[in-house]
Amino acid sequence: MAKPVRHVFVCSQHRPSGHPRGSCGEKGCREVVDELMQQWLQRQCFAQVLVTPSSCIGPCGMGPNILVYPEGILYSNVTKEDVSAIFDEHLLGGQPVERLRAPADIW
Ligand code: FES
Repeated sequence: MAKPVRHVFVCSQHRPSGHPRGSCGEKGCREVVDELMQQWLQRQCFAQVLVTPSSCIGPCGMGPNILVYPEGILYSNVTKEDVSAIFDEHLLGGQPVERLRAPADIW
């Protein structure tokens, strides 16, 4: 397997309702994970981009969260409608989507 240009970790953590940290799961991360996987398949960019559903990556209250390396850029409050921009502009285009980045005091 070739080293990918970008590796995407998309939080798919679920916690029980009422948990003090909340979770991306209760904020709809399933839709985001599914859309990311769907668009990855459509684009057939497996050698360039690696997508990994993950457990918690930190700021649960800002979820759904997506973390992209090597830049270490965190996208927060992501919806499935945002996934195309993340894919086209950042993962394939190389330009982070500034409007979706987590605030500086969070990440
Ligand atoms: S549950 Fe998703 S970042 Fe913590």
